[in-house]
Amino acid sequence: MSGDEKRTVASAPGKINVALHVGSPDASGFHPLLTAFQAVDMSETVTVTTAPHTALECHAPFDTGAVPRGPENLAWRAIAALEAHCGVELPTAIHIDKVIPVAGGMAGGSADAAATLVAVNEHWRLGVPVTGLYELARSLGSDVPFSLLGGAAVGRGRGDVLEGVTFERELWWVIVPSTTHLSTPAVYKELDVLRGDNPVSLPDRLTDDFLSAWREADARRLAPLMHNDLEQAALRLAPELAITLQAVSDAGALRAMVSGSGPTVLGLAESEQHARYVATELESSAVHALVTCSTPRGARLHPSRPG
Ligand code: C5P
Repeated sequence: MSGDEKRTVASAPGKINVALHVGSPDASGFHPLLTAFQAVDMSETVTVTTAPHTALECHAPFDTGAVPRGPENLAWRAIAALEAHCGVELPTAIHIDKVIPVAGGMAGGSADAAATLVAVNEHWRLGVPVTGLYELARSLGSDVPFSLLGGAAVGRGRGDVLEGVTFERELWWVIVPSTTHLSTPAVYKELDVLRGDNPVSLPDRLTDDFLSAWREADARRLAPLMHNDLEQAALRLAPELAITLQAVSDAGALRAMVSGSGPTVLGLAESEQHARYVATELESSAVHALVTCSTPRGARLHPSRPG
């Protein structure tokens, strides 16, 4: 089997939360969510080959020191979940090409897991249907189902109950990665501390105003309607984010907001040209910024080529 040169490649997009409402934790400690998920055109690429035993490596244009290389990596856990589901061993070498900031609130690890589920299912011809992959995705983490689905969706529950939303055109974003990392559980805990004993219930639904501005990609209407309940908690743990938020606003973004649990900061732009202008302004003040747009894509196989 080690002579097998077959390579199977899949990718999955990162996400942002255009709106993120967080309720008080349930008995299991998880927080119920009402969120507007949007996939962005920054995709992780996972290449799998047959190997004597499962192994993982990853490359990125930035420091990947914080990425676990062992069984605790979500991509490795995706293989373990498929092995348990199918009752077979799947010794696989996983190579991840990362572009999504690590521990940045953009679900990079979840994208790795979603792409791995799709690639390994194909590589070993397991034939697990999409519904089965979705259940495995749910067991791996709250954001993995959306990484599999992609596009745009309203998320409920832990973020794993999804209702797809169709888009008329793309929205443009400026992404400011951070050199620090924030742990998702720590940010949720900090939110609980900030809220004290006051129980917070979720709105029943996203407002019609928000949904129409979002679907129509009307950035000017959408900007004041964006919302992130985790932003204050992220700012408490990483106060320097206030400077980044101000810099993104000063550079001309329609709205600056922390992405998910942070510390990545988002800037909403009116068009590609406007996003590029904001990014150039940021770069001229020594703030590294990326430009991206929404994408209808989710996790998908890449066409195979000889290895
Ligand atoms: O599901 P995931 O592994 O991404 O969650 C990481 C941690 O974030 C959870 O263990 C939990 O502490 C926190 N979390 C939460 N409520 C959510 C999602 C995540 O409390 N809806």
